[in-house]
Amino acid sequence: MPKATITLDPDRNAGKIDGRIFSGFLEHLGRAVYDGVYDPGNPLSDEHGFRRDVLEAMRPMRMPYVRYPGGNFVSNYDWKDGIGPSDRRPARADFAWQTTEPNTFGTDEFMDWCTAVGTSPMMAVNLGTGAAKSAAELVEYCNHPSGTYWSDLRRSNGHADPHDVKVWCLGNEMDGPWQAGHVPAAEYALRAEQAGKLMKGVDPTIETIIAGSSGNHMPEYMEWDRVALEYTWDDVDYISAHRYSRNESDDTPWFLAEGVEIDRIIQDYRSLLGYVRAVKKSSKQVYLSFDEWNVWYRARGSTHSKGAWEQAPHLIEEVYNLEDALVVAQYLNSFIRNADVVKMACLAQIVNVIAPIITRRDGLLFQSIYHPFVRYAELASGDSLTPVVDGPVYSAGDRGEVPSLDVSASYDGVDGRTTVFAVNRDLANSVTATLRVIGRSVSEADQGWLLTGDDPQAHNDWDAPDNVAPATCDVAVEDGVAQVVMPPMSLVLASLNTTG
Ligand code: AHR
Repeated sequence: MPKATITLDPDRNAGKIDGRIFSGFLEHLGRAVYDGVYDPGNPLSDEHGFRRDVLEAMRPMRMPYVRYPGGNFVSNYDWKDGIGPSDRRPARADFAWQTTEPNTFGTDEFMDWCTAVGTSPMMAVNLGTGAAKSAAELVEYCNHPSGTYWSDLRRSNGHADPHDVKVWCLGNEMDGPWQAGHVPAAEYALRAEQAGKLMKGVDPTIETIIAGSSGNHMPEYMEWDRVALEYTWDDVDYISAHRYSRNESDDTPWFLAEGVEIDRIIQDYRSLLGYVRAVKKSSKQVYLSFDEWNVWYRARGSTHSKGAWEQAPHLIEEVYNLEDALVVAQYLNSFIRNADVVKMACLAQIVNVIAPIITRRDGLLFQSIYHPFVRYAELASGDSLTPVVDGPVYSAGDRGEVPSLDVSASYDGVDGRTTVFAVNRDLANSVTATLRVIGRSVSEADQGWLLTGDDPQAHNDWDAPDNVAPATCDVAVEDGVAQVVMPPMSLVLASLNTTG
């Protein structure tokens, strides 16, 4: 059996893991809001219309932030349609997904839902068809205490206390021709700078994110980002990255090497952020918000993404399998390894639409990708240790010979726990991994957490909801090191105590 050694050095780390990398994303799209989180009249819903079972399913995900209301939706959304008495709100034709938006769930309902979940709002403003002034008015509505038109309107709408929204996205994927109000980079940079300044004028404590390229497949990838960053550098806090991983050729070895590409994207942003900082001779730092990421390729095309003007149609309801869960784990590994650059990340999305949780009227289903997310969110805290992995490679098609193991690690100084998060991407071979910590002796290990299976396409459905579900595995401790056998196509999480 191939062997690997994973060596951790407490002095070699990428800094603190920002818990905000475990954030999520809720868009007015398909059945994400209506039928998803909000379903008044359903016996499973509470007095606000929030699905109780969804609230409960969200809590173990420990999402510190949920981004809202889009996505493509936001670029032609007027937030003023979604406040006030719900029977007086207008129904609108949504440009992005060709659905009818009833506006019965809006800003205040979202804030109440965040409170019920135990998360915080990350709001996106419309910089497609919306004006900077309207974006600043939304900040005033949400964050100003009282005594102004918009803050008093919030109060009269039943929210005496400010919503206190700390993080704001300046538009969404404005480089995409599909985006309402899409413009060239220089024009977007102007819009973002103007809106961001007005918004911070209303509330100087907020943080803002400029919209980076919508993916590394875009013709202007990095150039768009450079233009936007150079113009807004002094006034913004983050730039966004988005990626949706695809396995269209049904090539599992190739797809399981997706972590290589995720690392590369983060490296691209690391380089660009360093470059712009240097040309600006700036002492400030701008960080990366990877605020849309997931696997998404099957439920694409107009039949999946255009709603024929229905309300809450079934749109982009991707079914996730084992290999997708292993790719999700690699996103999280990469965010952890690059903790010094990646400060926020949002799983896109949370319910029904490219989501870990699927609802129907009488219940919900956990997709494969739910499981790694929950476990990482629970265990990855403290410092990101930089693992040195000495182990086998496997053949990943045109991605070449790729290390079989994709690994990240954390050390939590509060409980003294060191955790290793490792994916074995090899389809054929188990790997025996030895875990060692320089200058320390492993004294004990919790039972390992394991996600694996023989079939990379295995998935959960209503008849077999636990087809892809976590199991446990042994982590042996001997002579100051730990050892774990990682089956082919597996994710293993091992928490260790050390002495010394
Ligand atoms: O998450 C689905 C869509 O993907 C979002 O609306 C958009 O930002 C991205 O292209």
